[in-house]
Amino acid sequence: MCGIVGYLGPLNPKDVIVGGLKKLEYRGYDSAGVAILHDGRTKRVRAEGKLKFLEEKLAHESFNGHLGIGHTRWATHGGPSERNAHPHQVRGISLVHNGIIENYAEIRRELLARGADISSDTDTELVAHLLAEEVDRTGHLLKAVQNILDRLQGAFSIVAMWEKEPDTMVAFKDGPPLVVGLGDQQTFVVSDVQACLQYTKKFIYLEDREIVEVKGAQVQVYSSRGVPITKKVVEIDLSPESVEKQGHPHFMLKEIYEQPRAVAAAMEPHIDTRNFAVRLKNVGFNEPLPGVDSLDPLKDWENTRKILNGVERVMFIACGTSSYAAMVGKYLIETIARIPVETDIASEFRYRHPVIPPNTLVITISQSGETADTLAAIRLAKEKGALTLSICNVRHSSIDREAHGHLYMNSGPEIGVASTKAFTSTLTVLNCLSVALGRLKNAINAAEEKEFVQALLSAPSQLEVVLSYDKYFGEAANRLKLFRGFLYMGRGVSFPIAMEGALKLKELAYLHAEGYAAGEMKHGPLALIDENMAIVMIIPADQLFEKTLSNLEEARARGGKVICLSTGEHEHLRKVSEYYLPLPKAHWTVNPILSVIPLQLLSYHMACNLGYDVDQPRNLAKSVTVE
Ligand code: F6R
Repeated sequence: MCGIVGYLGPLNPKDVIVGGLKKLEYRGYDSAGVAILHDGRTKRVRAEGKLKFLEEKLAHESFNGHLGIGHTRWATHGGPSERNAHPHQVRGISLVHNGIIENYAEIRRELLARGADISSDTDTELVAHLLAEEVDRTGHLLKAVQNILDRLQGAFSIVAMWEKEPDTMVAFKDGPPLVVGLGDQQTFVVSDVQACLQYTKKFIYLEDREIVEVKGAQVQVYSSRGVPITKKVVEIDLSPESVEKQGHPHFMLKEIYEQPRAVAAAMEPHIDTRNFAVRLKNVGFNEPLPGVDSLDPLKDWENTRKILNGVERVMFIACGTSSYAAMVGKYLIETIARIPVETDIASEFRYRHPVIPPNTLVITISQSGETADTLAAIRLAKEKGALTLSICNVRHSSIDREAHGHLYMNSGPEIGVASTKAFTSTLTVLNCLSVALGRLKNAINAAEEKEFVQALLSAPSQLEVVLSYDKYFGEAANRLKLFRGFLYMGRGVSFPIAMEGALKLKELAYLHAEGYAAGEMKHGPLALIDENMAIVMIIPADQLFEKTLSNLEEARARGGKVICLSTGEHEHLRKVSEYYLPLPKAHWTVNPILSVIPLQLLSYHMACNLGYDVDQPRNLAKSVTVE
């Protein structure tokens, strides 16, 4: 969840590192710091709070070395303060860390018994002490890292430097991601490629318990036992502009507006527009690593068909917004392909001794591809012999690399902490997957496939229409901020959308909101309703319209103030609603892709009205690499 940048090369390390941290601030923003070699000594500058406070402090500092490390923190051990900010330093060792050292109490006891002077509340500083002891003994940073690796339990990625080896940085990981960027006579070690895209597109992805030593212009990866490893260099197809705001006030707004394009990009590889058919492309069930070697598309599809044909059950595993996408996937696959589907949140799945019957396809959904619980869940599913498929946005991410088969959201980088375009892109991919499974299982015929595909092809232009109503969503947000609580309700595919709408409001506007299946209201939550409670009703014109309408009347009869999201004009709904938000008429499979947009925009505008930072909501971080 923290962001790490290490740099060794001819440019000014302060500029490179701070520039990289800016791109990684989505990963944590409790404090930030840098340590840069200067005249043979390491100069460290740290600040509590967002990166801008560090920048203010650094404005008057100059450095004349070529090696440095930087960090933006999401606090785990030890509150957010300058004292706990990274880099941590012990004698000549400086290091930055993303993750949690689980056996930190035991290590701390040992270090104290040996007389260590511990100055912060963090687990990270303890690693710096261990390394300092080992370099004292061995006189060699790489050797020191090898010697301490087995002492560390938990999840960590770490970059370290030592004053006595001024042309070297050493990095290692077990859990959270660490990527080595290979530039011209310069090397970067970063949590995410975005941090150095302007300098290089060539990367090495470190696997767990690998160690990389960067020495001058030489980069060598070793196993934890010190055996040199030859790694594949992956070329990334992303432009530096794709991680800029491009004139929008916030990344979140930019990403909301990118959805027509993102949804089109998500379906593009899989739709045969001539025959209105779905052919899942480059799923790569027969390939160990994604995107590295090209596949013969026909062979790949034949192989995918063969494998998917044997699937008798689907289990979705994900967290947060991705888990609500999975819930929509359940409705889609069960209805279209007639295959039983379970959904689970990863943090529960991994500890509840799950039973995975034979011929189950386990599908993990993760925008970042790094969520620690989802990663552990896919590993557990593999251990139990399941066939796995990942739906990720970030290619080559840990979950993507772990899965047998791969589908991609294709949304482009999502920087706003609240997920928006990745959600609608996932729903698009799930539409394609459901139709492909439906055909394979003979649950739908070619005419029905055509109907689903045509509906999906209309989604991008329908999204443009929804976005053109942004002004109304802004007005509604202005009124709604006066309410004390919010109940979001829907039935069928709109139920997960209610959950997602409520999550967006909680995380951005810090208001209490709950998502409910509208039919469940009378089993308890109805008691909450009075004139201070806003009811956000997602009620598209689908087969459940009448049922949802009854639930809406029940809520209104108890004094609840209703905000209605429905299809086209509806006189009665408009009359009974405080606010009526219209949606274009669409197929039921596409409705969730459209109806989530007003909810994203409502939360966005409410958070802006209340003066909150929508791109970096309090206490959160984008990539949750600790459990
Ligand atoms: C909410 C949000 C989170 C993520 C969750 C899983 O807006 O972004 O709930 O959906 O942390 O993240 P990924 O999809 O990266 O596994």
